[in-house]
Amino acid sequence: MRKLTVCGGGNAAHVIIALAANAGWDVDVFTPLEDEVERLQAGIRQRGGIIARTPERDIVGRPRRISGQPQDVIPGSELILISLPAFAHGPTLRAIADYLDPGVTVGTLPARSGFDYQARSLMDTARLSPVIFGLQTLPWACRIVEYGQVVEILGTKARVDFAVAPVEARARVVAQLDFIAGVDFVAVASLLTLTIANTGQLIHPGIMYGLCQGREADCFDAGHTPLFYQGVDDFTAGILQAMSDEVQAVCAALAEILPDFDPAEIATLYDWLLHSYPTSIENSATLRDAFVSNRAYAGLKVPVRCQESGMYRVDFKARYLAEDVPYGLVVLRGIAELAHVPTPTIDQVITWAQTQLGRSYLENGRLCGADVAETRAPQAFGIQDFHQLA
Ligand code: NAI
Repeated sequence: MRKLTVCGGGNAAHVIIALAANAGWDVDVFTPLEDEVERLQAGIRQRGGIIARTPERDIVGRPRRISGQPQDVIPGSELILISLPAFAHGPTLRAIADYLDPGVTVGTLPARSGFDYQARSLMDTARLSPVIFGLQTLPWACRIVEYGQVVEILGTKARVDFAVAPVEARARVVAQLDFIAGVDFVAVASLLTLTIANTGQLIHPGIMYGLCQGREADCFDAGHTPLFYQGVDDFTAGILQAMSDEVQAVCAALAEILPDFDPAEIATLYDWLLHSYPTSIENSATLRDAFVSNRAYAGLKVPVRCQESGMYRVDFKARYLAEDVPYGLVVLRGIAELAHVPTPTIDQVITWAQTQLGRSYLENGRLCGADVAETRAPQAFGIQDFHQLA
């Protein structure tokens, strides 16, 4: 039987366990968090498997083994699926690397940016000749209802872009993802393309900066938490537009120097919004209108944290900065630096965000701060020449 190992024990891991085991894969689970091993085992004993609840039906799948020890579950895996917050990709790859079989496929969903640089640096690629792939986004919106027992699939995306290295293995990856029904997997040229096309790295830090800079100390009661997407004002829309323009400039430069790079694969932010939300944007006159009138974004708020006083403050350690800056915008900035393209607005956003995160990435206009090594910028992996990017 085909065997896959899921790394992680969160929302997405629950869905993968249920769907893949139901489709006939032998599914093992690796999670280094000991309490998750016990809670998953207990939940599965209770129900006989994990139930993925969709609006139409329940899909039940039972994993074979769950362990916090990689040697128990990684050997013999044809497919490794990493579905974790990006900060956990590195430690997970480090833990499993010695137990991987030659020819293994290692994929991440979602990839965020620069996953391939990190994966290659942590795996013995000469021994393994691995296939590495990434999905641009998680195919589902999903939430655990009862840990180890029930996960709810709130929605499944119709289309998910993905990239594979080497490209010859694309068909094999699509076949390996056959347990994910109803999703059109669309290949983009490379993991570099996937990285540059990651719009979350513009939208999340860009809106956080636009809405929150200068208001870092503001407090509000629960009913007055600012809206995130619907809060986009002219200033914030200007920041997002300028960031998108800078990405297009990076693409034009890369197309000159990397023959396989196709800039047409990277949409502007405005075009991306319109094609991602074809039916839920009511007014697409401007970039700002497209954000504030998008019904799919309605009601979503700025991430906040409750203070001892009972009042709320913006949570600058939330994923919109903590994930989308070191594993997103900083990676893009590193690529721009190698392509010699100035990115003044992206720099402005990173400079503000690194202060909120208590980190140093950009120093005097160069990506040489003390914390670059913890990011996935190419420079963190010794890549100093754009030819090594592809
Ligand atoms: P989650 O927050 O449920 O995953 C948490 C899991 O990460 C934990 O259960 C644990 O297994 C693992 N983990 C946490 N800290 C760790 C550490 N230090 N070392 C190793 N493992 C650790 O995440 P979820 O919801 O499953 O999402 C996975 C990814 O998909 C995230 O990047 C998320 O932003 C993204 N995503 C999730 C969506 C959703 O609807 N759940 C929708 C779109 C994207």
